[in-house]
Amino acid sequence: MRLSVVGGGSTYTPELIDGFARLRDTLPVTELVLIDPDTDRSERVSGLARRIFSRLGHPGTVTTTADLEAGVEGADAVLIQLRVGGQAARAQDETWPLECGCIGQETTGAGGLAKALRTVPVVLDIAERVRTVAPDAWIIDFTNPVGIVTRALLSAGHKAVGLCNVAIHLQRTFADLLEVPPERVHLEHYGLNHLTWELGVRLGGPDGEQILPGLLAEHGHRIAEHLRLPEAVLERLGVVPSYYLRYYYAHDAVVDELRTKPSRAAEVAAMERQLLEMYADPALAHKPELLAERGGAFYSEAAVALAASLLGSGQEASVQVVNALNNGTLPFLPDDAVVEVPARVSGQGPVPLAAPELDPLFAGLVSHVTAYERLALEAALHGGRARVFKALLAHPLIGQYDRAERLTDLLLAHNREHLAWA
Ligand code: G6P
Ligand code: MN
Repeated sequence: MRLSVVGGGSTYTPELIDGFARLRDTLPVTELVLIDPDTDRSERVSGLARRIFSRLGHPGTVTTTADLEAGVEGADAVLIQLRVGGQAARAQDETWPLECGCIGQETTGAGGLAKALRTVPVVLDIAERVRTVAPDAWIIDFTNPVGIVTRALLSAGHKAVGLCNVAIHLQRTFADLLEVPPERVHLEHYGLNHLTWELGVRLGGPDGEQILPGLLAEHGHRIAEHLRLPEAVLERLGVVPSYYLRYYYAHDAVVDELRTKPSRAAEVAAMERQLLEMYADPALAHKPELLAERGGAFYSEAAVALAASLLGSGQEASVQVVNALNNGTLPFLPDDAVVEVPARVSGQGPVPLAAPELDPLFAGLVSHVTAYERLALEAALHGGRARVFKALLAHPLIGQYDRAERLTDLLLAHNREHLAWA
């Protein structure tokens, strides 16, 4: 099995390699190709990747290339994990929205729109080239904002699935609290990427016993701490929101907090410098501890499980949380929206499970953000100041015309070099 990783020089890649090596019975990777324009980075990362494979007795080969077509030729699956403009562009996304009293975040609010505008055209171009060279390959998109990027890929007819680690992270957290194996924890995870709630938690599978009320009663305090939300909020909601809901439920408090500390991008950039130095050390043959301080914990487990099901090397179709076309799953959304929900995944792709009815408290926000995502995609595909303004005005965390005007100016001023039309 040949897997290609676009953005393979990412400092995150050793996480993926570690997962491929540990879970090789689930996903027998024979050839791993790291594709990256930054050859210095991909050399460092591939050196460590080979050492991890060899320490764990994994027979797979690891190669690198800066040539996309050569790298994806013959691939069974192509993972896309790139960041247009690197941490420098992310630092901007996290900073200028604060000038308007809005959240500075790489996927939520105005910063998330900037990232979508920079990213969608690049990912669509890559996907087109993948389709030419490897038409049967599955595209697994980790590239943020995953909801909008996946919607772009699916509306262009690509064989793609979007993936995020929020669900698997919560699954592991709950499994630890309950002291059960993670595979036994089935999440009723509903919403959009980075806008989800665990409406239920079942033990053993989709038809298992509903244990969410007991989990909240017994471990609500720990879960609230993990989400950085007051426990009372969880008690009132009766469900577990993802930690991205903090940007909505505690918006003003988070804005104040973000104003007083360095951006996450600055922290990550410092970590990346350290990680790249470590990766160059020929004595290092495991994933460094420092990598656990990044937000992507367990993304390799999610990727392995998804690729195994899509490529038919898993036992049978298995249920995983993915980003896929709505197609009636959440009946109050258009069919062509992309939702993040549990789905049965096989070689034919993901088929969402039947969803419970969403309380208006959740459905309202999901509808609102879905409308924003549609407008964001239109702005990313067709450009133009008016489309950017409209998407910003539609966002539930913005919504006022004077703020939307100012944010439009700031977004364009900070992103001109990445936007062909601006
Ligand atoms: C979580 C999210 C990812 C995001 C990451 C950021 O894992 O699901 O979508 O990219 O956090 O982590 P970082 O370490 O870059 O702040
Ligand atoms: Mn994510």
